[in-house]
Amino acid sequence: MTFTTDSLQRLARLRVLFLNAHDGLADYWDSEESLALYDATFAERIGWKWNFVLNDLDAREWTLPDGTLVDWGCGTGVASQKILQSPIGSAICNLSLFDRSTLSLDFASKKLTQLFPNIHFTQGDAPNAETVVISHVLNELSRDALNALLARLNKATAILWVEPSLKHVSRKLIEVREALRERFRLVAPCVHQARCGMLAPENERHWCHHFAEPPQEAFTQSKWAKFSQTMQIDLRDLSLSYLVLDKRPIAPLEPRAKRLIGNARLYKATASLLSVEVENGRIKQWNTPI
Ligand SMILES: C[S@@+](CC[C@H](N)C(=O)[O-])C[C@H]1O[C@@H](n2cnc3c(N)ncnc32)[C@H](O)[C@@H]1O
Repeated sequence: MTFTTDSLQRLARLRVLFLNAHDGLADYWDSEESLALYDATFAERIGWKWNFVLNDLDAREWTLPDGTLVDWGCGTGVASQKILQSPIGSAICNLSLFDRSTLSLDFASKKLTQLFPNIHFTQGDAPNAETVVISHVLNELSRDALNALLARLNKATAILWVEPSLKHVSRKLIEVREALRERFRLVAPCVHQARCGMLAPENERHWCHHFAEPPQEAFTQSKWAKFSQTMQIDLRDLSLSYLVLDKRPIAPLEPRAKRLIGNARLYKATASLLSVEVENGRIKQWNTPI
């Protein structure tokens, strides 16, 4: 893929919108071209984050419930595409695409029906669907829209939600966790079912985020070099926030296990790490010599 000046300008406009979105954004999909550009760049990068989440769930031997999956705020459908390509999504036979933009619904439907001819596709929210998938939407929702979505999510059996690792977005995702945790079990990244330890006053400066591994092509293809340079995105930094919830019983974790949050910070002679503990849900800061 080679970018024209026009295509780079379209992508740059989208980036500005995404970065400045706070509590509500009007529909911005203006053409099939913009969706195709998004799909080949931002969405592909989002897909790398989904690969990380799906591998994490696969390692925990967690699978999606049988039945229908809704990709809520589907855009070009990258989240459901990654799920259908992963072993954890093998029981999905119906996929419903939902977005306020009809342009995006048409784009995602066309792309996904070609990729997955054996899946039954519909458009619109499916309130009785077993699984709801949400990706990079939180920033764009007004408070009322988020509350309506939370009420709607209570009907699902499983929820998979991936967002960028911006601090305010991660903090909002913790709000979602707290609103839903009475009715769902917390599968990932949480290692306990209690109140999120990030809400303790001493953790106010932290946020829950993780780092996915970008694929080799991010550093070898000229498309990505141009994208990274123009958008000023460091492709090595593939950080994300995510949340996976399930109403079904989940396998217990080893009680003495801990989960790393973010990455280790390296200083001259020491490394500083943040972790959450299975046993008591506490967030702990570690300083170890290196
Ligand atoms: C940044 S895009 C992300 C698309 C896709 N989920 C992904 O991860 O690439 C956000 C999408 O959410 C949709 N959206 C935003 N607010 C919405 C709402 N209130 N109802 C339905 N869709 C919404 C937008 O139209 C857009 O397609």
